[in-house]
Amino acid sequence: MPTEALPQLLPTDRLRAQFPGLTPEVAALDGAGGTQAPQTVIDAVAEGLVTAMSNVGGAFPASDVSGRVVADARSAIADLVGGVSKGVVLGPSMTTLTFRIADTLSRTWGPGDEVVVTSLDHDANIRPWWLAAERAGATVRIAEFDVESGELPVESVERVLSDRTRLVAVTAASNAIGTRPDVRAICDATHSAGGLAYVDGVHSTRHVPTDLTALGADFYACSSYKFCGPHTGAAIADPALLEELRPAKLVPATDDVPGRFEQGTPPFELLAGVRATVDWLAGLTDAPGDRRTRLVAAFAAVEARLQGLLGRLVAGLGAIDGVRLLGAPRLRTSTVSFVVDGHSPSAVADRLAGKGIAVWDGDNYAHELMDRFGLAETGGAIRAAIVLYTTDEEIDRLVAAVAALAGR
Ligand SMILES: Cc1ncc(COP(=O)(O)O)c(C=O)c1O
Repeated sequence: MPTEALPQLLPTDRLRAQFPGLTPEVAALDGAGGTQAPQTVIDAVAEGLVTAMSNVGGAFPASDVSGRVVADARSAIADLVGGVSKGVVLGPSMTTLTFRIADTLSRTWGPGDEVVVTSLDHDANIRPWWLAAERAGATVRIAEFDVESGELPVESVERVLSDRTRLVAVTAASNAIGTRPDVRAICDATHSAGGLAYVDGVHSTRHVPTDLTALGADFYACSSYKFCGPHTGAAIADPALLEELRPAKLVPATDDVPGRFEQGTPPFELLAGVRATVDWLAGLTDAPGDRRTRLVAAFAAVEARLQGLLGRLVAGLGAIDGVRLLGAPRLRTSTVSFVVDGHSPSAVADRLAGKGIAVWDGDNYAHELMDRFGLAETGGAIRAAIVLYTTDEEIDRLVAAVAALAGR
């Protein structure tokens, strides 16, 4: 969508006013680790605890309420990513769900089978597959990103595909350096080799419109605490694919899809918050239409705003002598990692915290990535993330503080 055709995104000051967790004193550039929640989401979670809710499947009204809450959360996530409710598996976090799905899929793997992971990914989309492959006697192959550019070329995945590839696990966006690989091309190549594609959308989802069909993903995983919601996760797939799979489950638990992938009693109050989050995101612009249409419009507008802010941050940090930005991917989210000569990342993060600037330091679980950058043993990097409530002023504050620290 050309920028001039984008619907009007809520101005940042009006948007920020909805977040009780944001204060002018603190520049919250830590959003890649988790975002703050707007009041409407907080109210929905509280309401979920105030309203009588019981477990699902009972003959009485409080049980009906829980059933509706779960159905509403599924339908909200389906709208957010362009899936269908019956394909939305809800769970405590992306990591938990990925371990569960890896465990399930790997039951049919054996010696000679191959699983592909990438060095660009968060460890939550590497280790579950790696461990499952090891248990099954399958081989893990690694698609390497290019350290210079920060890109993950499709060819680097193609190079490790074979007719024994059972699965490719790839991120839709790096949580460390923002790289957005060509997921569609990677999924197409995976399918040509006969494998399934598991796409980690945890970082990507809050930055751009998501359409799993367009991405070609067999599974797409995300976590609502990364897009202003409560701490829960979801893995979305075609229900027909889920029907083919037999996850570990308790005997009395439902055997239906997607419920058979969900273990134990769900956090109903948080799921009430998930629906509220998605409704809130859909209302970020004045675009008309059904919720899915409004979400696509909202994220197109969010993407445009975030890219503008990213330009300011990259230009500001890039102009400081002694600051090195990790990678310069062409297509990226508004997240950057950098190091400052002569200062450990933790010392930089401490100093910035002292000035009211919240940034993450370390490997941020992008363990293989930091290893490839040669930073795994030296404390990783500093990560600054721009999210939809970030202001120009916060970026300028960060740039000025880093420049002062670097002594330039
Ligand atoms: C890209 C990415 N993938 C996966 C995860 C793990 O998500 P969760 O905390 O829901 O397990 C994170 C969390 O930071 C992430 O950034």
